[in-house]
This record gives sequence, structure tokens and C-alpha cells, in this order.
Amino acid sequence: MPRHVAIIMDGNGRWAKRRMMPRAVGHKRGVEAVREVTRAVRDMGLGALTLYAFSSENWKRPADEVADLMGLLRNFIRSDIEEFVANNVRLRIIGDYQVLAPDIVDLIDDALERTARNTGTQLAIALNYGSQQEIARAAAKAAAAGDVTPESIEAHLDTHGMPPLDLLVRTSGEERLSNFLLWQAAYAELWFTDVLWPDFTPAHLKEAIDAFGRRERRYGGR
Ligand code: FPP
Repeated sequence: MPRHVAIIMDGNGRWAKRRMMPRAVGHKRGVEAVREVTRAVRDMGLGALTLYAFSSENWKRPADEVADLMGLLRNFIRSDIEEFVANNVRLRIIGDYQVLAPDIVDLIDDALERTARNTGTQLAIALNYGSQQEIARAAAKAAAAGDVTPESIEAHLDTHGMPPLDLLVRTSGEERLSNFLLWQAAYAELWFTDVLWPDFTPAHLKEAIDAFGRRERRYGGR
């Protein structure tokens, strides 16, 4: 079993377009998929799940789409926090979320605090996240402490304290990392599917995990 799975949730827009519906509907269905997959990961007892919800480049999207995504995020945290608390899920955020709307920052801080002592699955949501920015921040901190090594940089990454990334999934047929977990993916297995994110179910996740189980991992050795 992978200790840590990360997902680039792609294809919400295409899912909606195929149904001649607004993109917002695709994102809304995307949140349903987030919920189902998070529950499945929790029930399987996986150590961690990291989801790419909003990249530092997503601000370039039209303002109404950014507002839709922020609205969904706000509702998601409000409505699902009790479920995290009840199920020992520890919420984490990677990325610089402090620049989001103040009420969202407050909701997040409250949810982080309320789940900080949970010992089950860690659910990390990437918000205003860019991997190169994360690495630069971590390297600057390591340099300020006068100790620049892979280990010292890693200790300052937003994912510090999470299990090593074992499996990275991207939906919707694109096969690129898009500035997501570049450092952490050094030895991760990659799994791509044509399934669009709103159609992604726990059964697809199991397919990815089964494929992971069949891979031979050598970490550069032989
Ligand atoms: C990619 O689809 C998806 C996103 C940019 C955002 C992912 C967001 C969600 C699933 C909802 C919010 C998440 C949470 C945790 C509340 P796209 O719009 O790039 O799709 P396209 O490539 O088909 O246009």
C-alpha cells in the first residue's frame, strides 16, 4: 500500500463542457469526487492524501471562476470539518494560503487547529501552491540556518511530517506535473488516467493502488 498518494484533479472544465454545462458545475461535481476519494483513503487507512485544489497559477483564470473555486473551498471546509474531526483526519494545507480571503483563512486556521492532534489520515489540500515557490522558500530557510542539504531543505517543505510520496495520480489524460510536488515526487510512481476528475471514484483509486503494488521500486539501486 502507498503511504502517501497525491492527485492532480484535472478535467472539471471538460466534464462540464461535454454536458454543455457551465464550468462551475464541473468544479462542484469535482468536490463530490474529493469527498468520496477522501473517505475511501481514510477507510483504507492510508497515511496521507494530497490534493491539488488551487495552484499559484490558477489566479490567471477569469475572476468568476476563481470566485467559484473559492466559494466551493469555503463550503467544503465548513461542511466537512465535523467529519474530519469525527474520523481522526488531520487537515493540512500546503501552499501560501494566507493570501486567500480572510474568512477562508480563519476557517482553515480553525480546521487546522481542531484536527492538529488527529492521528489518522493526513489530508493535505494544496492552495495557492506552486512547487518551485515551495522549494525556493524551503531553500531560503535552510540557507538562513547555514545548512543547505537535501535533508535540511526537505525539513522546511510544506509537506514536512507527512509520509514520503509514493504515488502521484493525474486525471483527464494530461501527463505532466504542472509545478506540483516536484521535490516530493523524486521517487514517486506516476499513474495517469483519461478519466475526468468529476468521474473519478474510489474504484479508480483502487486501480491506481493496484498498479502501484505491481511496480518494482529500486530507488536508483538494482
Ligand atoms: C482542474 O480542472 C481542476 C481545478 C483547477 C481545480 C480542482 C478543484 C476542485 C476539484 C474543487 C475544489 C476543491 C476543493 C478541495 C474544495 P480544469 O478546470 O482545469 O479542467 P479542464 O482542464 O477540463 O478545463
